[in-house]
Amino acid sequence: MVALEREKMVFLVVTLAIGIHFTATAALEPSVIIVGAGMSGISAGKRLSDAGIKNIVILEATNWIGGRIHKQNFAGLSVEIGANWVEGVHGEQMNPIWEMVNKLNLKTFFSNYDNLSSNTYQQAGGLYKESFAQQAFDVADSLAEFSRNISTSLTASREEDISILASQRLKNLVPSAPIEMAIDYYNYDYEFAEPPRVTSLQNTEPLPTFSNFGEDLYFVADPRGYESVVYYVAKQYLTSNSAGQITDSRVKLNKVVREIRHSQSGVIVKTEDGAVFRADYVMVSASIGVLQTNLINFQPDLPHWKILAMYQFDMGVYTKIFLKFPYKFWPSGNGTEFFLYVHEKRGYYTIWQQLEREYPGANVLLVTVTDDESRRIEQQPDYETKAEIMEVLRNMFGKNVPEATDILIPKWWSNRFYKGTFSNWPIGVSRYEYDQIRVPVGRVYFTGEHTSEHYNGYVHGAYLAGIDSANMLIRCIKTNFCKFPIAAKGT
Ligand SMILES: Cc1cc2nc3c(=O)[nH]c(=O)nc-3n(C[C@H](O)[C@H](O)[C@H](O)COP(=O)(O)OP(=O)(O)OC[C@H]3O[C@@H](n4cnc5c(N)ncnc54)[C@H](O)[C@@H]3O)c2cc1C
Ligand SMILES: *[C@@H]1O[C@H](CO)[C@@H](O)[C@H](O)[C@H]1NC(C)=O
Ligand SMILES: *[C@@H]1O[C@H](CO)[C@@H](O)[C@H](O)[C@H]1NC(C)=O
Ligand SMILES: *[C@@H]1O[C@H](CO)[C@@H](O)[C@H](O)[C@H]1NC(C)=O
Repeated sequence: MVALEREKMVFLVVTLAIGIHFTATAALEPSVIIVGAGMSGISAGKRLSDAGIKNIVILEATNWIGGRIHKQNFAGLSVEIGANWVEGVHGEQMNPIWEMVNKLNLKTFFSNYDNLSSNTYQQAGGLYKESFAQQAFDVADSLAEFSRNISTSLTASREEDISILASQRLKNLVPSAPIEMAIDYYNYDYEFAEPPRVTSLQNTEPLPTFSNFGEDLYFVADPRGYESVVYYVAKQYLTSNSAGQITDSRVKLNKVVREIRHSQSGVIVKTEDGAVFRADYVMVSASIGVLQTNLINFQPDLPHWKILAMYQFDMGVYTKIFLKFPYKFWPSGNGTEFFLYVHEKRGYYTIWQQLEREYPGANVLLVTVTDDESRRIEQQPDYETKAEIMEVLRNMFGKNVPEATDILIPKWWSNRFYKGTFSNWPIGVSRYEYDQIRVPVGRVYFTGEHTSEHYNGYVHGAYLAGIDSANMLIRCIKTNFCKFPIAAKGT
């Protein structure tokens, strides 16, 4: 209490001293630096601005707004190299991103995965017999239900968390035949970007995104890009021009934050180009992958408990490879959008999507790889990846398949401003440790999808985390309540 009072006094004295120099009103308004102009940073800025805290500066390392929600031109089309789906639609609660997408009238496509059993290809080619594949899907479904039941009972009896794989072992049904592994990969890796061996059962089954917001997924394919949702939030408090670009001088692009000095009196943020920014508070929205590197040097160091919590969490890697062909050679029409390729190597170009509905006549396929395959692919030349994919396609559809004329392989893991694609909750991190990742350290606040209370890994998680972290800061500024106790260990 005494310490708090002293801090308040110092703050007052400093602001009064500055007030004499400049104008009293400006000086009394607290200043905040936001690191990162992705969904969470933009959302935090909006919440601060709504609360009257408008003295903000947003420092963004890249030359774009939106972070991991980013469109790119591919063969004349606008495709999403980052987030693509609104996940969690038509449930009891409204997904705030779905609301934005509808207000903006973005073009979206319901993803129907129901017919996969008729669209599962064998390693050497040809479809599996539908009844055979369906049986494998049915076994996987009941296994998933069993895992959810185990998760519920672990929570009820306050037992330790286990991995999804451990729950499969309890049923003595560990996926091992190639088709079982492909379905398992589709059920888990395709969602979490990491295998069931590492993923926490308790924190993913059931997944709040689907249980609260609904089971449905919509794929965004709009020339304006999924990033329109970030601009939608940004334009509510940042000035923009008639072309829709953000022109507000408080947003500074190409500013790579390398050092954050923090003390009881404020923060000093240094960028790679030698610029120095001072403020009362800083809000860091860089991904957990970035926080696990030394890109940003905190002075003094963040406390040990915080570093351990951050380093224990996982940043997954999920790679969406787009391919363009001179003509289509895959089945099209209802119930054919998604197909699986089964290979003895788990996760070897397993998940396919033909984008005939989204990009009619463009002859574009999307194949997704994750984790170790993503890391491997990021490190080899694109032509080698393309050759691997062509071989897989020729296995599936015959040797007359034409060569792809274009390929796009996003490389989020190698990018020092991302170091992966989205966080995944690993086995061994408790809710207590998870909360430690978000909790502020002095005048340094944290946001980002990895700090979302229930929705880590998602666009809506980033959006809601921005609001929550801003609320913590607002509470500190307005009521001087700046300590954020977290749940006791073991609860
Ligand atoms: C390939 C991929 C697929 C995905 N698919 C989906 C999906 O279908 N549906 C879904 O809901 N979610 C999906 N996600 C997740 C979703 O995109 C993220 O959860 C969300 O966009 C993260 O927002 P954020 O603000 O937390 O982080 P970011 O978007 O990473 O924002 C942080 C910002 O900080 C910047 N930055 C980093 N370091 C510094 C520094 N030192 N100085 C200054 N700036 C810095 C970064 O450039 C970035 O702009 C996907 C993500 C990827 C990459
Ligand atoms: C899961 O629990 C429900 C409700 O207790 C039960 O009806 C169902 O049979 C269980 N499913 C599995 C696969 O164990
Ligand atoms: C596909 O399904 C939709 C609605 O379910 C229907 O309107 C359409 O006619 C179908 N198209 C084909 C080619 O079967
Ligand atoms: C399911 O997929 C098969 C094979 O591609 C296709 O022939 C069939 O029409 C699809 N069924 C439905 C109900 O969409």
